[in-house]
Amino acid sequence: MEPLIVVDHVNKHFGELHVLKDITTTIHRGEVVVVIGPSGSGKSTLCRAINRLETIDNGTITIDGQALPSEGAALAKLRADVGMVFQSFNLFSHKTVLENITLGQLKVRKRSKSDADKRAMELLDRVGVADQAAKMPSQLSGGQQQRVAIARALAMDPKVMLFDEPTSALDPEMINEVLDVMVGLAKDGMTMVVVTHEMGFARKAAKRVLFMADGEIVEEATPEKFFTNPQSPRAQDFLSKVLTH
Ligand SMILES: Nc1ncnc2c1ncn2[C@@H]1O[C@H](COP(=O)(O)OP(=O)(O)O)[C@@H](O)[C@H]1O
Ligand SMILES: [Mg+2]
Repeated sequence: MEPLIVVDHVNKHFGELHVLKDITTTIHRGEVVVVIGPSGSGKSTLCRAINRLETIDNGTITIDGQALPSEGAALAKLRADVGMVFQSFNLFSHKTVLENITLGQLKVRKRSKSDADKRAMELLDRVGVADQAAKMPSQLSGGQQQRVAIARALAMDPKVMLFDEPTSALDPEMINEVLDVMVGLAKDGMTMVVVTHEMGFARKAAKRVLFMADGEIVEEATPEKFFTNPQSPRAQDFLSKVLTH
């Protein structure tokens, strides 16, 4: 398989705190990788570093063979190639659902309004909220808003989608409607990095689980192997805690 994201010996500090410790991993095209680990282990920082929302101290991150530019138009283009979905949906609250999906297409991808509208409606249909297009985000449920956020990221035709705990802020009955959309994307061959503790999703869609603790990748395995037979004491300890919930 062809490498799409190559993270090579990456280190990152926040002051004295060493949050990414010599992280090395490769995400291949079409691969779905779940990142799991205790709070504070560096999962969000890794996602943000891949998208250049955070700088790194040293090491390299390349996306589709290109090193991450630090600023300017090249950075804007790279960001558009990397779709990002956060825990808190981060929709533009003063714009309609439809406008949320067309804005980046018009500004970054320079599409015509009619092309952008057409693509937006296709994507809203795909995530099951086409009938909400004219509403404001605050009129939607959390699950609907997160599906709009996924559609917004997809509208840029990203090479990879990063999800940082996309269901953690949702009421339990809305989690599956978001996970179902993500499973569908995985089936369609999207390259995905997903920070989540949803084991059902990991088992259904992920090829590989990356377990992080204290800024390190402690263990990498298939979901089956990781959840049934974790090798490291830290993973065993973590799983014994999350599995009891
Ligand atoms: N902007 C920041 N400034 C200082 N410390 C931060 C910042 N962002 C994250 N951290 C710290 O870095 C560590 C890793 O955070 P994070 O990547 O958010 O972990 P996770 O997503 O696994 O919970 C934590 O100790 C956190 O408090
Ligand atoms: Mg986090």
